Amino acid sequence: MKAWQITGTEGIASLKMADLPVPEPKTGEVRVRLRACSLNFRDYMNVTGIRGITGPLPRIPCSDGAGEVEAVGPGVTGWQPGQRVVIPFMPTWLQGGLTQAHAAGALGGAVDGLLREYACLPAESLLAVPDYLSLEEAATLPCAAVTAWDALHVRGQLQAGETVLILGTGGVSIFALQLAKLAGARVLATTRSEEKAARLRDMGAEAVHVSQNDPAWDEWALAQTGGLGVDKVVEIGGPDTLNRSIRATRFGGHIALIGVLTGTAGEVQTVGILRKGIRLDGIYVGSRAMFAEMLQAMQAARLRPVIDRVYAFEEAPEAFCHLESGRHFGKIVIRV
Ligand SMILES: NC(=O)c1ccc[n+]([C@@H]2O[C@H](COP(=O)([O-])OP(=O)(O)OC[C@H]3O[C@@H](n4cnc5c(N)ncnc54)[C@H](OP(=O)(O)O)[C@@H]3O)[C@@H](O)[C@H]2O)c1
Repeated sequence: MKAWQITGTEGIASLKMADLPVPEPKTGEVRVRLRACSLNFRDYMNVTGIRGITGPLPRIPCSDGAGEVEAVGPGVTGWQPGQRVVIPFMPTWLQGGLTQAHAAGALGGAVDGLLREYACLPAESLLAVPDYLSLEEAATLPCAAVTAWDALHVRGQLQAGETVLILGTGGVSIFALQLAKLAGARVLATTRSEEKAARLRDMGAEAVHVSQNDPAWDEWALAQTGGLGVDKVVEIGGPDTLNRSIRATRFGGHIALIGVLTGTAGEVQTVGILRKGIRLDGIYVGSRAMFAEMLQAMQAARLRPVIDRVYAFEEAPEAFCHLESGRHFGKIVIRV
């Protein structure tokens, strides 16, 4: 089978196509014929070594994939060849809380990911793709959408009428916009681009702040909420944005700490968190149970992911370059 592998430390140039044996499903496993993968910023960090892969190279990148059941291993019931499935980010995290062992099994991190033709996964981890979604659309969901769902609904306990602040127009933020709107929330958004601002408004963002000329989006968010602050922030920036997020949040509000776009460590205005009684929640994607709940909500509303561009399998390096450029809006997909 064809697979892309990270083979060294030269960034995107280190991605090489390999010819590997088709894996055989063990007891309790299903062999999936992957049809689509989507890219997350994490995959870019792993490929370019920003955060570094743990363990030896080569490593197959990408956590997010969808495809068809092709064969089932001994003891597997409930899945038949031909069924369309999507694969959770951490295949062993079925429900309940996150553990170190679940996190260690995150696809495309310390273990091989899904940018390949075939993969064997635990049967109990898979989820059926709703009929209304294509496999390319389904492949956008495991990391970014489940993270947004966890942030807003599981940890955030979002209520209709609340105000959600999203930052930028990448995968997590656009899903957060869609899911927040679906829940009847009001969405405020920031972006670095005028063109993307127009698209955010078209998608239902009530107000958009273009941060290129005016970085003080915290002041802007306060002004948009009569000086009170927003109820929820979907914080994808990290150290260089967190202090503004704290400032933009109301007393008793919630910040879902998700992203590392500006790094992994920095100075935090801790007093703002305690003085306002803000709940600051570290989020690491979510469980299969959260994924299933989200799929139900999406299906009921026929919610479709926003795909920026679909690349051919041979064009995987170009797809990573596109993510690197930051020009995308929503998700980038690679057809397998
Ligand atoms: N903890 C978790 O479970 C989890 C899960 C998923 C993702 N993440 C993290 O969340 C972040 C976003 O991931 P993603 O896959 O959605 O990324 P993405 O698709 O690459 O989107 C990033 C977008 O964020 C905006 N942006 C870039 N730099 C920014 C900055 N310094 N300040 C504010 N906005 C900025 C840009 O939008 P504009 O061009 O519109 O400004 C950019 O397109 C990453 O750090 C990723 O590692 C964490």
